[in-house]
Amino acid sequence: MPSLSPRLARLHPSAVNRVLHKVRAAEAQGKQLVSLLRGEPNFPTPPHIVAAAQDALRRGLTHYPPNQGLPELRRAVAAKMQRCNGMTVDAEDEVLITDGATMGFYVAVAALCDVGDEVLLPEPVYDCYASQVAAVGAVPVPVRAERDGKRFVLTRAALDAAVSAKTKALLINTPWNPVGTVLRREELQAIGAFAVERDLFILSDEIYEAIVYDKCSAGFQPACRQDVGDTVQHVSIASLHPSFRERTVTINSFSKTYAMTGWRLGYNVAPPDITRAMLLVLQQASRGAATFVQHAGVAALAGPQDCVAEMQREYAARRQLLAHCSLPTAHWLLPEGGFFALLDVSATGRPSAAVADFLLEHAGVVVMDASVYGAACEGLLRISLAVSRETVAAGLERLAEGLRRL
Ligand SMILES: Cc1ncc(COP(=O)(O)O)c(C=O)c1O
Repeated sequence: MPSLSPRLARLHPSAVNRVLHKVRAAEAQGKQLVSLLRGEPNFPTPPHIVAAAQDALRRGLTHYPPNQGLPELRRAVAAKMQRCNGMTVDAEDEVLITDGATMGFYVAVAALCDVGDEVLLPEPVYDCYASQVAAVGAVPVPVRAERDGKRFVLTRAALDAAVSAKTKALLINTPWNPVGTVLRREELQAIGAFAVERDLFILSDEIYEAIVYDKCSAGFQPACRQDVGDTVQHVSIASLHPSFRERTVTINSFSKTYAMTGWRLGYNVAPPDITRAMLLVLQQASRGAATFVQHAGVAALAGPQDCVAEMQREYAARRQLLAHCSLPTAHWLLPEGGFFALLDVSATGRPSAAVADFLLEHAGVVVMDASVYGAACEGLLRISLAVSRETVAAGLERLAEGLRRL
């Protein structure tokens, strides 16, 4: 037999999958678990979006789409970028429809990086990026984020320590999984200036943009509001300066905003030459998202947005459940955005991996040891708010019980 590619040694299954393995084993032994693990919105996809897909299927729209994406969906993306992100985007040559942000990130890295090029990834961060970088032969390099009180930040010193002559691109993720930071305008200005100075591409994963909490009231910001005083608002780095815009791929998807994880639909926005390059890669990898799914995407972006506001309010209510729940030997780092909270269990004196295992085994509650996302998260557990309020409440009871017994 010929051997498999040596590159496989640098690819890893997602951290969630590793925990799911343990969960299945526990369930096979008859354990009833409460899971606060996954970043999978528990809401059904809004009915008008489902109806648009059904309608497209009935109309026989089941053939190849244009590989760049349906023109009407690209126009809907451009209109949304204007409305919500303050960016004027040409639907003709600056939008690429993808099969989700996972594919969006992959085609961007493959289009921009050669073998041996380095890609800066904040650490801690969503664990799938590193393997995707490695899959194209590029090298993931961590930028060590610092915890500033209850918030993680990317400092200029950390960026300077990570960059080298081989660095080609820098990823940012705002709102940031798993730490919940929403990067502020000034932080993005500094990151953008660094990228310009070092002549790097910027990959900006903004898939949690619709889930941002108000700093003062913990209620939700309407998705398209401007920065007001001390409140938190999602800002797209590419909107801040033409020199950022010309080097940025904005990566987004329908998965989180519209509870469409299983539809596999997303979009990248970038200048025309980069969009053309990413299209060339996408053509080799998938030829685009399913045609009827793209019609559902038009309904999502161009249709009523109250479904998004409703989901936002529900996430905020779940976040409030945490805010009002004090747990033995633990305290919360509540998110500014996204649907993950962090629970600091360092006062237990045990590694967070051991605490997560103990909670699974002895309290029947599934949480993620956040240190798998980076050493700066040692001592923290990641708690998902993408489950019903009842599940959050049941999970909190089990967490309290488990931490008491620890
Ligand atoms: C930061 C981040 N980017 C990308 C993804 C994947 O998104 P998609 O479903 O659009 O592929 C996730 C999924 O959890 C994520 O957390």
